[in-house]
Amino acid sequence: MAIAKQAVIDALKEVIFFKKQNNIVDLGMIHELHVNEKNIKVSVVFPELADPSVGIVTNSINKVLKDKFGQEVTVDIRPMSEKELGKGPMAGVKNIVAVISGKGGVGKSTVAANLAIALSKAGKSVGILDADIMGPSVPIMFGVEGQQPGVIERDGKGIMIPLENYGVKILSIGFFVAPDQALMWRGSMINNAFNQLMTDSEWGNLDYLVIDMPPGTGDIQLTLAQSYNIKGTVLVTTPQKVATADVRRAAMMYRQEKLVIPLLGIVENMAFFVPEDMPDKKYYIFGRGATDELAKELSIPVLGRIPIVEKIVETGDNGRPIALDDESLVTRAFDEIAVNVEKEIEKLDA
Ligand SMILES: Nc1ncnc2c1ncn2[C@@H]1O[C@H](COP(=O)(O)OP(=O)(O)OP(=O)(O)O)[C@@H](O)[C@H]1O
Ligand SMILES: [Mg+2]
Repeated sequence: MAIAKQAVIDALKEVIFFKKQNNIVDLGMIHELHVNEKNIKVSVVFPELADPSVGIVTNSINKVLKDKFGQEVTVDIRPMSEKELGKGPMAGVKNIVAVISGKGGVGKSTVAANLAIALSKAGKSVGILDADIMGPSVPIMFGVEGQQPGVIERDGKGIMIPLENYGVKILSIGFFVAPDQALMWRGSMINNAFNQLMTDSEWGNLDYLVIDMPPGTGDIQLTLAQSYNIKGTVLVTTPQKVATADVRRAAMMYRQEKLVIPLLGIVENMAFFVPEDMPDKKYYIFGRGATDELAKELSIPVLGRIPIVEKIVETGDNGRPIALDDESLVTRAFDEIAVNVEKEIEKLDA
């Protein structure tokens, strides 16, 4: 028999968040609720994920709903956004989009930089944050290498003013550390630097803050993702099976039980090669099919495919991302990726 949503909400009123001495429904902690024949899916927001009561509340929800309805129950826990907390320097940032990959060198920074530019060309206010301590390449790609962000004082605290180029606000973890010292940085230092870039910075009002995340699935990625309300992730892969296998691992990390960050979709980079003198030919040098398989398996779309083009390397190195070009094949591909990212986010907001 179908269960009425209201009955589930009433049942959830039995779950108390002791710290606030009230039930999770009246405290407005229910973020989403989906009920169907087989299961009940509840998404709950918490002010702090590290709070020990997260486990207690999760267990109570499971118990109350299973006892009452006997359905399969899934509980997602999400961090409360700065906005929901009603404060914070990031209150003006609407959507944080993290660009992630399983391993290095697949074109994460290239995608992050060009996605930021494509969104900005579409009239959005955009920032980019380079969180990849081992290879902070965003400043080079945006032609601001060697520059330092300005600092102002507010309430006795230093606030960084992002650099700006091509209409995009830019900050990088590379501003804190010389390249030869990056290996010596411990997790806590990286976290501190990241937090400063996020919250002690004047981002102002942004439609999108694109984050070039460090590659892989370590503690750092987890902490960074847990500490902020990330709207969604863009997965970057190359077509080889070994690359998609790594991306699959990264995707699973972002989809684990206590950390539900939506995967917006996959960008397949270096998807094929088009010889300049034979623009109608496509050579699938790194193979074909593995990205679509992964997208299907994860039930997420392929947001776009970027060919292998020498100009991507040139424009990246010269500090003028290819998405600024007038009408190249690659520019169009990045514009389409930006449109698709916006579409997926709209779906989440709907
Ligand atoms: N589609 C492409 N065609 C040709 N070259 C590309 C393409 N995408 C990226 N590259 C080049 O490959 C190199 C690696 O790309 P990029 O720095 O974006 O990867 P990454 O995943 O950010 O790497 P890292 O893990 O080191 O941060 C760069 O020199 C870049 O210009
Ligand atoms: Mg990079």
